Amino acid sequence: MTPIIAPELDLYVRELVPPRDPVIAEMEAYAAEHDVPIVGPVVATLLEILARSIGAARVFEMGSAIGYSTAFFARAVGRGGQVFYTDGDPKNAERARGYLDRMELSERVAFRIGDAVKALEETTGYFDVIFIDVDKDGYPAALKSAAPRVRRGGYLLADNVLWSGKVVDVGARDGATEGLRQFNRMLFSLDEFRAVIVPLRDGVAIARREG
Ligand SMILES: C[S@@+](CC[C@H](N)C(=O)[O-])C[C@H]1O[C@@H](n2cnc3c(N)ncnc32)[C@H](O)[C@@H]1O
Repeated sequence: MTPIIAPELDLYVRELVPPRDPVIAEMEAYAAEHDVPIVGPVVATLLEILARSIGAARVFEMGSAIGYSTAFFARAVGRGGQVFYTDGDPKNAERARGYLDRMELSERVAFRIGDAVKALEETTGYFDVIFIDVDKDGYPAALKSAAPRVRRGGYLLADNVLWSGKVVDVGARDGATEGLRQFNRMLFSLDEFRAVIVPLRDGVAIARREG
């Protein structure tokens, strides 16, 4: 498929981001070496800016892996804020805890190991931000459970919604691509939300709850 952004522009945008905290840089290196699909510094910065812009204090992350995006949200919520980390793999959670401890952020993070939808359903109340980044065939179910839990004025965010352009490839019929197509259709038909897709990296959906 055609890259969403020309590779040289993608690199240009990435290289403009200032050097990161050494632990964040270590996470990036680990992810690159072990093929862990993290959002990367540009999208992570966008997530942090959005969370800070609404004074988010309570964030739920669906699919956290080694805690990279979690760290940006944990910084955004500040002391006294809370970010729910979720991942199905306990080894990821252990690694994430190690990094977040070293950044002195783990006190702000509630770790939940297992299915993210189940973990969300075991919480109560509203969230300022819910970020969806689980397996792509699981996006429609994640959206169904997340949408009603975002507070008015809050954000529902999701990564990979353009899926390397596969969403417009008529020959692509795999579960992940179909899941993303269904997710995008569902998201843009929610009456309570105003949504847009930012074609950064692999496509980021930003939806603000207005009603
Ligand atoms: C794309 S990675 C998350 C990356 C992370 N958001 C970041 O950018 O740093 C997706 C992670 O979600 C986890 N995962 C996939 N489906 C899940 C589900 N239904 N419930 C919980 N975790 C899930 C996988 O184990 C994987 O580590």
